[in-house]
Amino acid sequence: LREKGLTDIKNSKTEQELNDARVRLLGKKGALTEILHSMKDVEPERRKEVGQAVNDARDHLATQIATMKQQIETDLLNKKLAAEKVDVTLPGVRPNTGVQHVINIMRQDLEQFFIGLGYSVIVGPEVESDHYNFEMMNLPKDHPARDMQDTFYVDAEHLLRTQTSPVQARTMEQHDFEKGPLSMVSPGKVYRRDDDDATHSHQFNQLEGLVIDKHVTMADLKGTLELTAKHFFGQDRQTRLRPSFFPFTEPSVEMDVSCFKCNGAGCAVCKYTGWIEVLGAGMVHPNVLENAGVDSSVYGGFAFGIGIDRFAILKYGVTDIRDFYTNDVRFLEQFKTEE
Ligand code: PHE
Repeated sequence: LREKGLTDIKNSKTEQELNDARVRLLGKKGALTEILHSMKDVEPERRKEVGQAVNDARDHLATQIATMKQQIETDLLNKKLAAEKVDVTLPGVRPNTGVQHVINIMRQDLEQFFIGLGYSVIVGPEVESDHYNFEMMNLPKDHPARDMQDTFYVDAEHLLRTQTSPVQARTMEQHDFEKGPLSMVSPGKVYRRDDDDATHSHQFNQLEGLVIDKHVTMADLKGTLELTAKHFFGQDRQTRLRPSFFPFTEPSVEMDVSCFKCNGAGCAVCKYTGWIEVLGAGMVHPNVLENAGVDSSVYGGFAFGIGIDRFAILKYGVTDIRDFYTNDVRFLEQFKTEE
């Protein structure tokens, strides 16, 4: 019995099996217990001897069971540890992170560039009053040039801003020119009524600049724009100014940069001229200064308007402006920068 018990214990692979073996041997109805119960049948002079043997066997089996139990537990723990083992030397799995939107990347790049030139970055509301968006900008009601910026009206007096110029009107009004010049850029979203297609969009992003001081000249404007173009499009780019018209500047200009990705004049994106228009600018119209309470006989300055989407299209060769706001991650992820 003792031998058979030992084999039973050794063959137990789980705690359950071991427990079953224990009950079979030492339990209330177990084999050894039964022998102990039947001691009365043993001849009195052998009782002591038999009792001793049975007790020995019981103790031995009990110890074996305890040892076996421990071993099963250790095995179980080791198996668990092996299964949960982590190789800390393996490279980690990186969570998939999003990307900065290409328009934001460029907006920040331009902001940093102008901060470097000493400008402040100032933002304003997207829902504007007719007063700040148009009238302060020398575009009275019924002015034909309002057609250049077909407008979403919210009510008779309010609209979705068509340009970020109203931020500049608001800032000029507040600025104390006795204390120093004003140089600012105002970036942000603007809206114009348009039928969306690959080259037209009802919303886009501008970054307009304004510098007002005594003795600001057109040469200052030209130098600033040239620096900007070279920073953005590359040092090898050439620039030229062409006369143009805006109601808020006089004189007004448009700037072209020399064509890229194609040599000389042979390129469709440059309409085969060798140049591509990138922005509008000019010397701030005296009416705009006076509207904001600035004495135009003492102060003057320049303004320019950059279309951020347009810059992105030209820099990256984007063929459909709608890609900027339909948020297809396959488009957006192209502008992922390695951290
Ligand atoms: N606000 C003008 C526009 O949206 C851009 C511009 C700004 C032109 C400043 C000249 C000077 O068309």
